[in-house]
Amino acid sequence: MLTMQLTVIFVALLTTAASGVTVIPPSTWNYTYPWPVQYHKISSQQLNLSMAYMDVAPTNTTSNKTNTIVLLHGKNFCAATWEDSARRLSAHGYRVIIPDQIGFCKSSKPPSYQFSLQQLAHNTQSLLQALAIPRVKILGHSMGGMLASRFALMYPNTTSHLILTNPIGLEDWKALGVPYRTIDSLYVDELKTNYTSVRNYQQATYYVNTWKPEYDTWVNMLVSLYKTPVEGEVFAYNQAAVTEALLNQPVVHEFPLIQARTLVVIGTRDNTALGKAWSPPAVQRVLGNYTVLGRRTADAIPGAALVEFEDLGHSPQIQDSERYHAALVGWLDKSDW
Ligand SMILES: *[C@@H]1O[C@H](CO)[C@@H](O)[C@H](O)[C@H]1NC(C)=O
Ligand SMILES: *[C@@H]1O[C@H](CO)[C@@H](O)[C@H](O)[C@H]1NC(C)=O
Ligand SMILES: *[C@@H]1O[C@H](CO)[C@@H](O)[C@H](O)[C@H]1NC(C)=O
Ligand SMILES: *[C@@H]1O[C@H](CO)[C@@H](O)[C@H](O)[C@H]1NC(C)=O
Ligand SMILES: *[C@@H]1O[C@H](CO)[C@@H](O)[C@H](O)[C@H]1NC(C)=O
Ligand SMILES: *[C@@H]1O[C@H](CO)[C@@H](O)[C@H](O)[C@H]1NC(C)=O
Ligand SMILES: *[C@@H]1O[C@H](CO)[C@@H](O)[C@H](O)[C@H]1NC(C)=O
Repeated sequence: MLTMQLTVIFVALLTTAASGVTVIPPSTWNYTYPWPVQYHKISSQQLNLSMAYMDVAPTNTTSNKTNTIVLLHGKNFCAATWEDSARRLSAHGYRVIIPDQIGFCKSSKPPSYQFSLQQLAHNTQSLLQALAIPRVKILGHSMGGMLASRFALMYPNTTSHLILTNPIGLEDWKALGVPYRTIDSLYVDELKTNYTSVRNYQQATYYVNTWKPEYDTWVNMLVSLYKTPVEGEVFAYNQAAVTEALLNQPVVHEFPLIQARTLVVIGTRDNTALGKAWSPPAVQRVLGNYTVLGRRTADAIPGAALVEFEDLGHSPQIQDSERYHAALVGWLDKSDW
């Protein structure tokens, strides 16, 4: 009986692969990354998956640091979005590891995967283990910040420093009244993604209602992924599953348990909140107040430092690269032990 069931599953997998629904690396998405893309092979949830990453060597020859910093991308971003930060950090003596999470960008996109922050943190830790890197600084932006906090909680011995840049998950959306939305409904939303919808969202949330031509790079990157034949639809489905996971898996209640030396960097004009779009007006009004959330987070994480930019939105590292990186590198130099 068991053998029969397994045979059925096996045949189903083969069929899926043969019909082209399973997207296996290399990804067919043709966006060019700034450094060579490497693949970390993992076996996860009965699937053989590949996690894409870039491994950028330090370019500062006067520095003899053996420091590694890991950059975790957000939900509407990819490893490539970190190019500017990675160049600056490698010039400052850091080895920079930049993964694409499973389901994202150049990594495998399983037709079905039980996404969780814990699973993504585990995958990231397995990459570091494969590279034999025992201790790192973790910098996460947006969803990558929420993931970085989960990573720091799960792997305190690996995480010397934690830097959260406009992370999401600073509040428990469902406890504040965001209604449940199924993965199927979220998938329908995701499939509607186009240039206009992404740009309008980013303009209002990331850049304080301003726009510069160079911001189009990141809109076009994302939209081209959604529009890639076959892979784009699996990506949209993965995105829906990720959104559901993020809503169900608050990390905010565990901030007092974080042991890493922590910096919280906040563009206070950010207003990101998962589920705001489908919440009642009274709930919408209280969500995503980063002036309040940044301070509350820095208070909750033991010993955390806070840097606020009162004129910047969700992506301070893009909106004002000089100011953001001066604050980041200044803190790293000061706390680098
Ligand atoms: C990537 O593919 C799209 C079509 O899906 C095409 O329009 C675009 O020119 C390609 N870009 C590169 C860099 O090859
Ligand atoms: C995964 O890879 C292993 C070893 O290469 C292989 O034995 C196994 O059949 C693969 N599983 C799937 C689901 O492809
Ligand atoms: C390199 O690191 C060692 C050990 O941390 C230190 O003693 C030495 O001064 C450093 N050298 C330079 C040139 O920074
Ligand atoms: C290179 O490393 C040295 C020693 O750590 C440091 O003083 C210098 O500022 C670094 N250069 C840059 C461009 O960051
Ligand atoms: C971290 O290291 C300490 C000391 O070696 C050990 O007792 C502890 O179990 C480790 N924690 C984790 C989560 O691995
Ligand atoms: C983009 O999507 C929005 C929202 O789903 C829709 O209203 C709009 O017509 C679409 N625009 C284009 C050019 O397809
Ligand atoms: C955020 O909360 C603060 C303090 O309650 C309040 O003064 C401010 O108006 C709120 N900002 C927004 C955008 O709602």
